[in-house]
Formats: sequence, C-alpha cells, structure tokens
Amino acid sequence: MNTADGTPLKIVAFCCRYCSYAAADLAGVLRLRYPAETRIVQIPCTGRLDTLEVLHAFEHGADGVMVAGCLEGDCHFQEGNLNARRRVEHIKQLILQIGLEPERVEMFNLSSAMARQFADAATSMTQRIIDLGPNPLRVADRDQMNQMIEKPAG
Ligand code: FES
Repeated sequence: MNTADGTPLKIVAFCCRYCSYAAADLAGVLRLRYPAETRIVQIPCTGRLDTLEVLHAFEHGADGVMVAGCLEGDCHFQEGNLNARRRVEHIKQLILQIGLEPERVEMFNLSSAMARQFADAATSMTQRIIDLGPNPLRVADRDQMNQMIEKPAG
C-alpha cells in the first residue's frame, strides 16, 4: 500500500512476545488479511521498549509505529504495558515538537487469541498513515531534517 502521493508505506509494529506477537502469528496462521507493510519486531515486553527505539524508527523512515502489548492486567512483567502506554503518550508529545503528528504512534493491547483484532489494528493504523501521508523526516533531505528539528512546528 502507498500513501496518497505513491510513496510505499513503512509501519513498524513492536509486539511483545507473549501476547500481541502471538496474535500476529495467529493472524497469519488463520490467513487473516492485514497490510503487508506492517513490519513486526518482537520484543520481550512493551515495558522494555525504549523511547529512543521508537524515535529511531521514525528517524530511519517509519511512517507509523504500533506498540502492541498484552491486555492491561495480563503483562507477564506485571506493569510493563502500563508503563509502555505512558511512554507512548510521552513519545506523542516528543514527536509533536519535531513536527510529526502524534497519531503516527499508537499503543494497542491484545491477547494471544486476538488475531482478528491484530489484523484490524494493523489495517486501521495503515489507513491512518495513508491519510496523514509519508513521514516528513523520510522525505526530507538531511538539511531539511535538521531545520525541522531546530525549528519545531507549532
Ligand atoms: Fe506483554 Fe509485558 S509481557 S506487554
């Protein structure tokens, strides 16, 4: 799938090993359709996902980032997914300051049986990114990127 201007999409989905990765795997086994542009990265727990890893994903051309963990109350590391949700909200504020739309990053909570919901989340995130257009950091050259960082939007 491409953005409105024809640019191929890149959406990174950081999925915790225990639930959301299993849900994505099950979606594949069940042959549920979700956008192929969703690049899944397995992580031990969303609580382990560092803010810098998400920012690096944007810096390296991701148009959108999904953070998908266990259902609230079911994190295998107790409160990792609750910490991740707070971190995602913080990242939204950070990327807004460098001119990216906060909607480019989103937190999802899924059980390992929620294959359909994973496919739906990936599809809705893809549609959101199509509507937003490509990551301006990706299409900007290095000078433009430095200008964006030096002169935040707003
Ligand atoms: Fe899944 Fe923590 S183990 S979010």
